[in-house]
Amino acid sequence: MTDAINPELAAKIRFDVPCSARIWNYWMGGKDNYPVDREEGDRFAATSPGIVDMAKQSRQYLIRAVRFLASEAGMRQFLDLGTGLPTMQNTHEVAQAAAPESRIVYVDHDPMVLAHARALLRNTTPEGVTTYLDADLHDPDLIVSDVRNVLNLNRPVAVMFMGSLGHIADYERARSIVTTVMAAVPSGSYLVQYDGAATSEATIRAHSDYNETGAVPYIVRTPEQMSRFFDGLDLVEPGLVSISRWRPDPIDPGTPEAVDAYGGVARKP
Ligand SMILES: C[S@@+](CC[C@H](N)C(=O)[O-])C[C@H]1O[C@@H](n2cnc3c(N)ncnc32)[C@H](O)[C@@H]1O
Repeated sequence: MTDAINPELAAKIRFDVPCSARIWNYWMGGKDNYPVDREEGDRFAATSPGIVDMAKQSRQYLIRAVRFLASEAGMRQFLDLGTGLPTMQNTHEVAQAAAPESRIVYVDHDPMVLAHARALLRNTTPEGVTTYLDADLHDPDLIVSDVRNVLNLNRPVAVMFMGSLGHIADYERARSIVTTVMAAVPSGSYLVQYDGAATSEATIRAHSDYNETGAVPYIVRTPEQMSRFFDGLDLVEPGLVSISRWRPDPIDPGTPEAVDAYGGVARKP
């Protein structure tokens, strides 16, 4: 798997400590993971069996949200903060399928994700733009200043925090990161978010065990805490909900089973 990765990057990749992006990739059915990730992923799933379904549901949520933003909300610029490893239907593929001229900036700080950036950077349309920025979410000012080279911040941007704010351990810091990025984009921009939620004992316990493994910790928050990320913004229907229930495909009859992850989409007035 590391054959095509440049040696400097490969040296930064830890194979002895589980890694969030790779565990997530494993649960979503990807192949870019190592024994240490599969072991931790299986251990986690034994305590919290809903997690694998949740990982798969999160990608379906991302697809529905990006499709909504490109098709219904008219977004043509996407800032995806906490990219993850490329799997099926990544943000640029979904956005450019709906609006070929869409411009996407991916941001992550994981060397493994960076190593795969080449795969992510493949535009699916000649008129679209897809770029990758190696940066830490803890430095939103730097991210905003770099993003200006690719996105026009005088025009609306869809700002995406998909499963990444849970990695910002300090709640107020997480809120201020969202506020900083949203302050840099104009009225008519959107915020899209989801994260694992503290809505069952099993999920809380499994995350607390995971945070003991040496991996970058992931904090599960209550839906009430997550709702503060949307302060000052107008949530579109159905609001902040379990991600499986956010505008489910009409071909699926009935109300989908809730999963322990909450998400929402909101417009900056
Ligand atoms: C759970 S994965 C979610 C991946 C993808 N957004 C998705 O929804 O499938 C979280 C991602 O956030 C990235 N991440 C975590 N902390 C970060 C930080 N401080 N700066 C940049 N990226 C970060 C991780 O490397 C990982 O790729």
